Amino acid sequence: MTRIIAIANQKGGVGKTTCAINIAYGWARLRGPDRVLLVDADPQANATSVALGVPFANGPRQAGVGILYEVLLERAAASDVIQTVEIEGNHRYADTALDILPAHLQLAEAEAQLMGEFHREYKLKNALAEIEDDYEVIIIDCPPSLGVLTMNALLAANEVIIPVEPGIFPLVGIQYLNSTIGKIQRVNQALQITGVLPTMGDRTVLARETREQLFKSFNGAVLPDVPRRVSIGEANAAGLDIFGFEPDGDSAAAFEDVVREVIARG
Ligand SMILES: Nc1ncnc2c1ncn2[C@@H]1O[C@H](COP(=O)(O)OP(=O)(O)O)[C@@H](O)[C@H]1O
Ligand SMILES: [Mg+2]
Repeated sequence: MTRIIAIANQKGGVGKTTCAINIAYGWARLRGPDRVLLVDADPQANATSVALGVPFANGPRQAGVGILYEVLLERAAASDVIQTVEIEGNHRYADTALDILPAHLQLAEAEAQLMGEFHREYKLKNALAEIEDDYEVIIIDCPPSLGVLTMNALLAANEVIIPVEPGIFPLVGIQYLNSTIGKIQRVNQALQITGVLPTMGDRTVLARETREQLFKSFNGAVLPDVPRRVSIGEANAAGLDIFGFEPDGDSAAAFEDVVREVIARG
């Protein structure tokens, strides 16, 4: 069965997109090409910016080239809008490739346009049903809200990873997300929490206390930490994953640990 993993947290800036990109690219690098689909379900289209370039994600819409918007409104099939991204190798990682189902700012309009539609929360699930057998894993980057787009992701998914930054407020937000996941599990019994993922970790007391609290609340479901590193932001800005940007750094090693652990939990 294809693993369909939503990267979700209604809070913005916790590292969702960074984790979605690096888990998807890392998976493609470790397991070989043609196994991974990255679905960008955030109108901010940051994952699309990295995979396909800023002009595609933020520039004018290209005629005849679809995005998730058309798929959710049933104007295109997922297979019509998916693009393949070639990923350059280096001395540590071989050349590979992954597929992306892109977003664009226009995706923001889908939320309002789906409002009156029957089964509006199931559009992504239905669209992925036609292509999911082509992949080993589908990673969905969610927007920072619990609106229709995130609901589509959580109903399409069979797993969820929750990135959490250090602090007390993120933990309060997790309780809320947890109760949302609980509600979704009543209609999508397949949905499992694969793990919470401590991001932007540093040596502060707050970061340590956050990890301890996560271990208390989620037991074994805490994934290896991702440290706070300037290079992680720089890689995003350069349009690269951390494995391509700084293959020998501790950030790449940390994300490789995360990817191996997520693969192992399947
Ligand atoms: N581990 C990290 N260390 C340093 N900066 C990070 C890290 N993870 C994310 N960032 C930066 O923090 C900002 C928010 O991250 P992002 O992944 O876009 O979060 P979200 O998708 O949850 O809004 C981005 O500018 C990103 O480059
Ligand atoms: Mg994001």
